[in-house]
Amino acid sequence: MTDLCALSDLNEGSSRGFLSHRGPVFAIKYDNEIYVYQNECPHLGVNLEFRENEFLDADGSLIQCSTHGALFAIDTGHCLAGPCQGDQLTALAFTIDAGRIILS
Ligand code: FES
Repeated sequence: MTDLCALSDLNEGSSRGFLSHRGPVFAIKYDNEIYVYQNECPHLGVNLEFRENEFLDADGSLIQCSTHGALFAIDTGHCLAGPCQGDQLTALAFTIDAGRIILS
């Protein structure tokens, strides 16, 4: 398990990257839901972020890979456009415990 952060550290519409026991991962809060994915593009296996903690596209409605621009749905991780269209990010199980996001 890895304690990623407090729920209050993840603002609505924002993303954050972490190093965990599963390697690099990132979390997003969107529409009051939390999502956690492996930080690995299904296209080439590279990290996704543009800059530290920046995993979303310009309007903050999709996850975007900084290398070739693939776009992923925040709620499912499915690639909607780009070189890995039809593939998906790896969603990771987590729990919320005492107001903290704990990666399983
Ligand atoms: S490495 Fe992510 S789209 Fe190519």
